[in-house]
Formats: sequence, structure tokens, C-alpha cells
Amino acid sequence: MEDAKEEIRARLAVEDVIGQYIELKRAGRNFKGHSPWGTDRTPSFMVSPEKGIWHDFSSNKGGDIFTFVMEMEGCTFREALEKLAQQAGVELKRYSGDDKKQAQHKQRLYEALELATKYFQYCLTKNKDVMKYVFYKRNLNKGTVQKFRIGYAPKSGRALVDFLTKRGFTKKEIEDAGLVNRFGGDLFKGRMTVPLMDVGGRVIGFTARIIEKDDNSPKYLNTPETLLYNKGRHIFGLSQAKDAIRRSEFVVVVEGNMDVISSHQAGVCEAVATAGTAMTEMHLKSFARMTNDIRLAYDGDEAGVKAAERAISMASKFGIYLSVIDDYHGCKDADELIQKDPALWQKATQSCRPALEWLLEKYEIRFNLRTEKGFSEYASEAKRLIEDIEDAVLREKYERMVSERLGISLEAFRAKKVAAPKKKLRKNVAVQGEKSAISRAEKNLAALLKFGGVALEGFDPVEVDEAELSLIYDELYKELGAGEREKEAQSLLIKVEQERMKQEREELAEAIRVAEEAEDDEKVDELMRQLQALDKKSRKNR
Ligand code: UTP
Ligand code: MN
Repeated sequence: MEDAKEEIRARLAVEDVIGQYIELKRAGRNFKGHSPWGTDRTPSFMVSPEKGIWHDFSSNKGGDIFTFVMEMEGCTFREALEKLAQQAGVELKRYSGDDKKQAQHKQRLYEALELATKYFQYCLTKNKDVMKYVFYKRNLNKGTVQKFRIGYAPKSGRALVDFLTKRGFTKKEIEDAGLVNRFGGDLFKGRMTVPLMDVGGRVIGFTARIIEKDDNSPKYLNTPETLLYNKGRHIFGLSQAKDAIRRSEFVVVVEGNMDVISSHQAGVCEAVATAGTAMTEMHLKSFARMTNDIRLAYDGDEAGVKAAERAISMASKFGIYLSVIDDYHGCKDADELIQKDPALWQKATQSCRPALEWLLEKYEIRFNLRTEKGFSEYASEAKRLIEDIEDAVLREKYERMVSERLGISLEAFRAKKVAAPKKKLRKNVAVQGEKSAISRAEKNLAALLKFGGVALEGFDPVEVDEAELSLIYDELYKELGAGEREKEAQSLLIKVEQERMKQEREELAEAIRVAEEAEDDEKVDELMRQLQALDKKSRKNR
């Protein structure tokens, strides 16, 4: 059960579990509320997100999420476990009985990955060209190479697999560790390797960069999701950065893994990266356990703005102060800036700006304030963002800032009616790392269209990160003939259309429910008509 307990604990934030029973307010790094058992006048119930525990000063009880539920519900440990497992989406079946076997298997994977790391580290010392790349081209020093355990995966197709096999690892173990390609050979070949580690510093996978430019393979290849590596939860560099983050009480989130490494070398040891720019709620929760000062070093491009928008709307929920580092002195990323002058990067991480201020400025550029349309839309967007701020003082600060910028009174801005939110982006637009992520079929089809020379008239593929698509393409379709690719695309198309229709139907059903609640008969009628039309269309397609 230890494994299941761990998994549940990792997935649920203590304050969320307790927040279902008691109203909690943030108090510095902790949360506070009234004791559910005592009759305290001032809140005496404390929750520590960092430690994952609670303590009630009035009744002098305390513990973790499991004991809390046991106390509140007056239930057994087993019952509390089941209840929380359900909330966390953890299947207990998978842990019972096989628990021990599973734990042993995992242990073997850790060992294989540790050995692979050492092997790659050794191979690096034996290859002059790669040493040159690492030490001179990337300008990493010995300390950094050791701290991040950088290595080299040899070119020959089975070096690592053979090595691990000789050391007693089974084919399945090597496969489950995510080290094998689809042909049973090494996944990483001729690449500089950087281990992905969990918070405790155990290796759970790799990211690997090609050394010689080559247009056919993706620049970076990463371990696929395994028993040990979960992309949406993983934070690159956290094990190396966590002490510095606690000490300095801030975290710097950069885009690329190499940016993290250079940043540490430049003395900014609070740097970490999430996979791409996709910051999930799970990432934010992990950060929130350590600090409430999060500094994003994202590009100012559209993707960066989108990522910041998402982060801003999530951050207010967690009581996080979000800021943006955007002065790269003309360089394209942190790494480049550090190569130019590490001191500039150090300064940039200190002189960051509140994310909201930064975003409002981006909006000023997006909407042309000289036109009435732009002026009004800008005001709407700004209002929408500002309305979400829970801290009254900060809210007023921004209300004043925007109304002054627009040359209108504070009252007028406050009175502005916010237009209904723009139709939500179609759900199947890429939101990386989220549960409602794009379906596999959507992605695979997009990959075929982008790289497979397949054309589908009138079909509008979803937007997916090009690097991801190229990876999918290489992994699944590169080896197929043109005819096979065409056939694959056709069958994916059918699947995607079915999925999209299902999604549309669900959205309509939801809209009908809302309209019914509002007793808007006309709207209900109109939506019902749409639903019928949709049903007719899907019958025809069948
Ligand atoms: P970048 O292309 O900006 O990488 O992608 P970078 O870190 O600046 O790479 P260098 O400096 O050329 O070595 C940003 C991040 O996106 C992911 C990686 O995590 C990378 O760090 N990525 C990029 C991939 O996973 N695969 C790719 O093919 C490219
Ligand atoms: Mn770079």
C-alpha cells in the first residue's frame, strides 16, 4: 500500500483535500482555518502545503491527508484510502497484491537508468568530438557536467542495450525503462545525454540532443512516458535547484533544459524547466510548495504569451506571485544571453516584472487603442484579467493602471460590462500536458499531414508543437511507404471526425443544460435543432 499512498499524496494537495471540509486562507507559506473540532475564536487549524501535513492547535491533533479524512469521516484507514484514491484517480487494484512485485520492478528500472547514466558518462570521456561539443560549443565546465551528469550515447545501434543485457537486465526491464526504440535497439544514438531526475535525484529518464545538425531527426529526443517518468508532472532541474529555491524563495522557470544547465553554471541555481512551455497545474502546485514567487522566462512570442496567460489564470488560485523575465538583450533564450554575459542573466532574473503588467502591455500591442473597437476590446480583456485578482489592493492597483492608460475614470472602468468571453478555443486546440489534451488520433494525423506528404482536402488539423509532431512522425510513420501513409491518414481521419462529433455533441448537451437552467426556451430550441442536425450528419457518415 505504501506505493498507492505515495502516489495519492503526490497527486493531491493537502490544502485541496482539507479545503473540501474547512475554509482555508493562505497565511504566508501555510494555510489557516478554524478547527473543525474545537471552538477556536481565532483560526487555530494550520495546513502546510510544503510538508503535506496539518495540525490543529485547539485539539492538538495532526497528521496527513489520510488521518484527516479518518478524523473527519470517522472512518477506517482503508476507507479513507479508497476515498482519496478515487479523488486522485489512482486505481488501488493496480497496487494491491502486485504491490510488492511492482515496487521491485520499479526498483529494477531505477537501477537500469542509473547504470545507463554511468555508461553514458563514461562514453563521453572517450569521445573527443563530443567532449569538444560539450565543453567548447556549449561552454559547460566540468562541475556543471558532473552536477547534471551529462553523457554521450554512442552511435552504434545497440551499445547500451548490449551493455545492460550483459549486466543482467532483461529485455522487458530495458524496454520499461524507456531506453529502447521500436526495433529493440538503443533509443538514443549519437546524442549528448542529460538525465531527467526526480526530486530526490534518482534518474527516471533522459533527454538527448543531436550533436551534428541533421534535418531528419528531432533536435531533442526524450524518454517516453514510463512507470517512472510522467511528462506532465516532471520538472527538469528540480533536484539540483530545490535547495537554492528554498533559500532564495523564488524559482525561475525557463523554456529549455539547456537553459537550466547554463543558468546554474551562471550562478542562478533557482532555474528549472517544464517540458516545453506547457506549465500544468501539477507543476504550479509543486512550485507553490516551495515558494510563492515564480519568475517565468518565456519568449515574448505568441506561444510565450499564451503560456503566460494560462499560468496567470492558474496562479491567482494558488496565491502565487507570478512575474516575467523578458529582457534578453536581443538574445533568443537564456542560454544565449549567458554565453554573452552571465551577469546580464543574473540581473535579468532580479529585475523581472509582474506577469499581469507584462501581459497587459502585450495586449496594448495586440489591440489598436486608437480605434474604438481596439480600445473597447482592450478594456474588456484587461477587466477580465483584473477581476480575477483576489487581493483587493493589487486589484485596485491594476484598475488604476489601466484606467489611467486609457484616460478614463476608475469608475468608468469598474462599470465596464465585460463582453461574453470569446468563444472558447476549440477544445482540440493544443493545450499541452493537460488532461483534456488532444487525442492521439488528432496528433498522429497532424503529424502525417505535416511531415508525411499526405494531403486531406478541407481538413483542419489541430495546432500541435512542431517538435512533437516530428517526433511522432519519426516514431510511427517514417518507415512507411507513401501508400501506407495515405491509408493510415484515411483511417485516422474517420476516427478524428467521430471524436470531434462526440465532443461537439457533449458541448451542445452542456449548452442545452445551461440554457434550460436559465429558462431560455428560444435558446434551448435553437440548440436542440443543432443537436438534431448533428445526429443526422453522424448517421450519414456511418
Ligand atoms: P529549443 O529548440 O528552444 O531548445 O526547444 P534549446 O534548449 O534552445 O536547445 P539548444 O540550445 O539548441 O540545444 C526548447 C525545449 O523544447 C524541447 C526541449 O525540452 C527543449 O529544451 N524540445 C525541442 C524537444 O523536446 N524536442 C525538440 O526537437 C526540440
Ligand atoms: Mn538554446
